[in-house]
Amino acid sequence: MRTIDDLDVAGRRVLVRADLNVPLQSGSITDDGRIRASLPTIEALRTRGAKVIVCAHLGRPKGEVKPEFSLAPVAERLGELLGADVTAARDVVGDSARAAVDGLADGGVALLENLRFEPGETSKDDAERGAFADRLAALADLYVGDGFGAVHRRHASVYDVPERLPHAAGGLIAAEVEVLKRLTEDVERPYAVALGGSKVSDKLGVIDNLLGKADRILIGGGMVFTFLKAQGHEVGKSLLEEDQLDTVREYLRRAGEAGVEFVLPVDIVAATAFAADAEHDVVAADAIPSDRLGLDIGPESGKLFAARLADARTVFWNGPMGVFEMEPYSHGTRAVAQALLDSGAFTVVGGGDSAAAVRRLGFDETAFSHISTGGGASLEYLEGKTLPGLQALED
Ligand code: 3PG
Repeated sequence: MRTIDDLDVAGRRVLVRADLNVPLQSGSITDDGRIRASLPTIEALRTRGAKVIVCAHLGRPKGEVKPEFSLAPVAERLGELLGADVTAARDVVGDSARAAVDGLADGGVALLENLRFEPGETSKDDAERGAFADRLAALADLYVGDGFGAVHRRHASVYDVPERLPHAAGGLIAAEVEVLKRLTEDVERPYAVALGGSKVSDKLGVIDNLLGKADRILIGGGMVFTFLKAQGHEVGKSLLEEDQLDTVREYLRRAGEAGVEFVLPVDIVAATAFAADAEHDVVAADAIPSDRLGLDIGPESGKLFAARLADARTVFWNGPMGVFEMEPYSHGTRAVAQALLDSGAFTVVGGGDSAAAVRRLGFDETAFSHISTGGGASLEYLEGKTLPGLQALED
């Protein structure tokens, strides 16, 4: 894979596909981690005299211009972090975008409007996607792929534009891939994986693949209730994916055969409602009352998980253990984050939610070996899938 060091960028228009898909609340960015992670590549290109055209998506506006998905607040934050003006185009490939690009001096930066305002970006139709890719590619001389969080998407800006321009991988993609290789090739053992988040169905591929690779798989978050139910326990009103019960039973059986240890919580924080001020108690994981829903793993489970992480040499963690945004249900996620740090292992935190949890709970993010900017992308990499955005940069 070529890197930006292999490109002669001085005075040239360089289109950088970044992942600036940050959480917003009433128009304000609540976690700017992905913008900060994109800075080194943009800075490096500027320093070398490139005209930098950044493109990115925000949310899923589905091919329509929706003001609440505008990248304007991101342009402002990017400018603050770079300490430089960032021209915010008001469209993606129209008059405003062309004017913004034409106005760039060497070392200047422009941000195009949300790529997903254009139906061609995400289209499944190759011709429609290709036509949009042509227009995007026409804005630049060179392409740099650096939006790691979007490399699992076969989208125009990720997959088709690099076919049309000389291209290279940015520093963020290069760093992310190096870390993920360490989790898939010559992994240092014991290798423990902690999985949380709400849905089992999002994690099926990765669990399947890890059954042949990890030594221990710890399960928390909303997905744990499908595991508990599969073991024959009552889960009350907790999140449950009935249609995944057979698959989960099969995983538990295969894990036994493969000698992979599944670690499930022994206690649960069960509440009367999905609310921070709802009545809640710690109950045994096999005795969740029928009128309660589990919103976090309990304190004994936190200790159990910490003990099963303590001697690990490699840990991958994806997905919060509970509803960490609400203080009463944040303790399981906190316990796992702390256990990663205490283990002294090579620790990788993958996924927007886990990364946001780490920052929100006040952990020093630099204390982890790596915090991935890509949730879905890192999971699909670990599943062993071919990621279109990486494939495009290889060629
Ligand atoms: C993400 O937030 O995981 C990436 O930016 C990809 O976004 P998407 O899931 O909407 O494609």
